[in-house]
Amino acid sequence: MAQPSTPRRIVAEVLRGETAFPPPVWLMRQAGRYLPEYRETRKKAGSFLDLCYNPDYAVEVTLQPIRRFGFDASILFSDILVVPHALGRDLRFEEGRGPLMTPMSVDDVVRLDRSRFHETLEPVYETVRRLRAVLPAETTLLGFCGAPWTIATYMIAGHGTPDQAPARLFAYRHPEAFIQLLDTIAEVSAEYLIRQLDAGADAVQIFDSWSGVLDEPSFASFCIRPVRKIVEKVREARADALVIGFPKGAGSLYDGYREATGVNGLGLDWSVPMSQAKRLQAAGAVQGNLDPMRLVAGGRALEDGVGAVLEGLGGGPLIFNLGHGITPETPVAHVEAMLRQIRAAR
Ligand code: CP3
Repeated sequence: MAQPSTPRRIVAEVLRGETAFPPPVWLMRQAGRYLPEYRETRKKAGSFLDLCYNPDYAVEVTLQPIRRFGFDASILFSDILVVPHALGRDLRFEEGRGPLMTPMSVDDVVRLDRSRFHETLEPVYETVRRLRAVLPAETTLLGFCGAPWTIATYMIAGHGTPDQAPARLFAYRHPEAFIQLLDTIAEVSAEYLIRQLDAGADAVQIFDSWSGVLDEPSFASFCIRPVRKIVEKVREARADALVIGFPKGAGSLYDGYREATGVNGLGLDWSVPMSQAKRLQAAGAVQGNLDPMRLVAGGRALEDGVGAVLEGLGGGPLIFNLGHGITPETPVAHVEAMLRQIRAAR
């Protein structure tokens, strides 16, 4: 039970099923290139991975959007691909090309090396510990990982692709190796999340950015099953762990996802219709789901979009967010306008 002196962390409370209005708000990728101070630190750090693995820099960029906007949640600055990196796969980020890895073969699955996993990720745990110490007491600290399917798509193709055909083909041609790959990622990801919670994260989000490219049986095997495994393993260690699932693009397969995986909160992308979002909210917290392009455009498009989310979902447990990450071309003034509108809502 909450002690009288315990600070209220509204995002965590909404994840437990409470309603707050105006709703708490944070943005996926809130630390990023749309912020001049991020670009400045990024330049100093050198490579993107140096930013992720250096706690001084990672703490600094995590705090930048909190200082500027006072978001209700702060998300650890890192990347989902540090998990395969910590399993011994190579990883680099190239300007304008995104992540690049050596594509994985079937034989590579058994060669994944877990021996230095936590050692490699220790700077991430250190970042979480330092963040909890310096963040405002009422700010919810979020940890995260990628869902096994989304991680596997990058490991197999070696880069982003529009439809994840390489990973789908790998899965159908080599079903046993593919399941073994997902299971390995699920096991280490659960350990990774537990360490983040131990280090001070209040809740964690599991990003399944590519769950929208699978047929129904594969969605069940490649998305739901491994995410349920992660949630179960995390809850064995921390029965009260708060987890947000984000199966981006899942469409009608959003229905039943919360129940099948055990996540507390459901991250909605902007294509989820309001009628479905309301139905999903009847079972617990939802997070989302403003189209990030409305935030880029600003003006009427932004006002209408924010208004629709508040009006449709503000009466239940809602964490206001975008339907996917904020993009580099977003004007800071539009973020400020969005926050004014949300915080003035009655
Ligand atoms: O939300 C946050 O502020 C926390 C940090 C965070 C990043 N990536 C930082 C980042 C989080 C939670 C992620 C998750 C992530 N990374 C996902 C899942 C969410 C999603 O967007 O779908 C995925 C698929 C990745 C893999 C990844 N990392 C890609 C495809 C790219 C290139 C795209 C791009 O915007 O350049 C990255 C790089 C990346 N991760 C950047 C940031 C701020 C930009 C890199 C830079 O600063 O040069």
